[in-house]
Amino acid sequence: MPTPATDLSDRVRSLAGMEQLLVAVEGLPPLYLVGGAVRDLLRGARSVDLDLVVEADAAATAREIAARLRGRAVEHQRFGTATVRTGELVVDIAMARRERYERPGALPEVEPAGLTEDLDRRDFTVNAMAIGLSGSDLGVLRDPCGGLDDLEAGLIRVLHGRSFVDDPTRLLRAVRYETRLGFELETDTERLAREAATAGAIATVSGARLRDELMDLLTEAEAPAAVGRLRELGIARALHPSLRADPELVAGAALASAETGASPALAELAALCSARPAEVEEFVHTLALPAADRTAVLRAASRGPVLAETLHGGLRPSELHALLTPEPPEALALALALGAAGGPVLRYLSDLRGAALEITGEDLLSAGVPRSPAIGRALEETLRRKLDGELAGRDAELRTATELARGRA
Ligand code: CTP
Repeated sequence: MPTPATDLSDRVRSLAGMEQLLVAVEGLPPLYLVGGAVRDLLRGARSVDLDLVVEADAAATAREIAARLRGRAVEHQRFGTATVRTGELVVDIAMARRERYERPGALPEVEPAGLTEDLDRRDFTVNAMAIGLSGSDLGVLRDPCGGLDDLEAGLIRVLHGRSFVDDPTRLLRAVRYETRLGFELETDTERLAREAATAGAIATVSGARLRDELMDLLTEAEAPAAVGRLRELGIARALHPSLRADPELVAGAALASAETGASPALAELAALCSARPAEVEEFVHTLALPAADRTAVLRAASRGPVLAETLHGGLRPSELHALLTPEPPEALALALALGAAGGPVLRYLSDLRGAALEITGEDLLSAGVPRSPAIGRALEETLRRKLDGELAGRDAELRTATELARGRA
């Protein structure tokens, strides 16, 4: 049932790109703004993503809107959803649907349904509201699950007792919203979350879906607090018993990411994995991160603690360079978070990272040095001497490297 007292039309109109969208939806089957955008609009916050629901064919609706706005519609087959893009406006349009979970943790089977059923299948009451966008329905709030009350009370509440079992990614989402919004899990919801975590619900979810939610959680400004809640609720343990869910370490990794150029989320994930890196390697593989990210996380998790022990002020520049050059920035961030001496890391970052000779092997060949592995070794030694201040300038580099390659230095 609409909630007649609540007219949100001005707030809806003020959303970026909405004026043109409202014109484009005229005469089409009724459309509704749903999910996070409604939650944020009611809180007076800005939402980046606009999700719309239509009680009709979403792809056809998206094509018509795209044509009217001279934009593009891209269809996604799995759930019958589509994205419309035009200028600054990006909206996802989904057919109103009900969901059936064939087995816990699997992606649901979907079939067309009315708006209320579509709201009923969602994760939390604060995400289960809709606002009409069409004609006289513009700005009218649909709130069949009590989302507005929970928004005002600051509560994250599931809509039914099987929610976390059907979709255990909601365990991570619950914690993400709780910390982002400064809310609390409603009492029964917290009990259900603990039960689902203990019962092994997370094992039923694909690694890729876990990755998306875990990386979203770690990308939040409140990630350290969220990691603390993962620990308290038994979710961290359910993800993997050897994870180190230490909010302070995660906060340190996030902070040090700015100095080192690390990706905060990857450095935080490395922090989670750093207590027993060998034991969590398999878990990191199941997350199916892009290969470069996976390598950085695993390397950082195993090398960060070692660097934290090894780095000290007495290292020569060439030693620092040799020690830190093979490491991803996430390893440096984690080492700092674990208490590594800041001086050497900062010296490496400001003076030594990317340091190179002015000459190359080609210069040695041109100087008449025969092609052989001695050239590589000579260049390495020349770089070492340059970093330690024993030589300077291109001529000195060429002279030293030539002599070294010919076995005369
Ligand atoms: N949703 C759900 N269960 C999930 C994922 C999503 O019920 N496992 C629903 C929620 O209603 C959610 C909406 O789909 O609001 C859109 O999902 P998503 O874009 O992930 O979240 P937002 O609410 O838009 O949150 P955010 O602000 O983090 O983007």
